[in-house]
Amino acid sequence: MHESTSPVALVTGANRGIGREVARQLAERGYEVMLSAREDAKAAQAAAEVAAQTGGSVSALTLDIADPASIASAAERLREDPGRLDVLVNNAGVGTDWGVSGTTPDFDAMDRALQTNFYGAYRLTVALLELLRASSHPRIVNVSSGMGGVAEMGGWSPGYRVSKAAMNAMTRILSTELRDEGVLVNSACPGFVRTDMGGPMGATKSVEDGASGIVWLATLPDDGPTGGFFRDGSPVAF
Ligand SMILES: NC(=O)c1ccc[n+]([C@@H]2O[C@H](COP(=O)([O-])OP(=O)(O)OC[C@H]3O[C@@H](n4cnc5c(N)ncnc54)[C@H](OP(=O)(O)O)[C@@H]3O)[C@@H](O)[C@H]2O)c1
Repeated sequence: MHESTSPVALVTGANRGIGREVARQLAERGYEVMLSAREDAKAAQAAAEVAAQTGGSVSALTLDIADPASIASAAERLREDPGRLDVLVNNAGVGTDWGVSGTTPDFDAMDRALQTNFYGAYRLTVALLELLRASSHPRIVNVSSGMGGVAEMGGWSPGYRVSKAAMNAMTRILSTELRDEGVLVNSACPGFVRTDMGGPMGATKSVEDGASGIVWLATLPDDGPTGGFFRDGSPVAF
């Protein structure tokens, strides 16, 4: 275990897109970043590139959040080194049923969305709670989507929508139960961001702007909000 006292942040699905930019912005702010990806080589390459870009401390971690065994071994690795965790950004996500009608759902695709976007994020959070509880300023950011907001929910892509609505429920449940321990848990919608996910659908928002609202929640002061759902720092309806 090394001796650094910088806060430690884990970002999932950080080899590309919004997650990679969140990792970059946190490294730039002096966080020791555990950059995770489901493929070893992609994690290693992205971690080396982000470290070179920022001059920060960025380590690669292999983590497939849809695989409980991968979650268990990543949690074990974090307990050994660096042995601390202050921030968890549950960013990894998949869209499996874009444009599918809710009247003719593809339940296999819905299950795949739930396994990653909901169960994966929830299992990982629970596996890391012991480390987070030991932090003086623990923060959990669940990267959700306006498409998961029940108050303004529309049609189509039912698997993706339900998986993000479930993730938002997890935010409310855990923020309520962990409030007295000082663990701040919030959902973030990055907006419609030009990544491999959003780009083909015509998104124009930059990854820098999409990531900044997530980084804001990851770096909240102790009197910051918990149990909220935010886009660009402003509340959105659950
Ligand atoms: N882009 C948007 O407009 C938008 C809008 C609202 C919400 N979001 C949310 O923002 C988050 C990031 O999206 P993005 O636009 O950056 O998407 P992206 O470019 O498609 O990147 C998704 C990332 O998640 C990773 N991932 C997928 N399944 C995984 C698994 N089982 N375990 C670990 N990592 C996994 C991918 O890894 P691989 O490279 O291995 O596939 C990739 O690194 C997602 O949760 C998404 O739902 C995005």
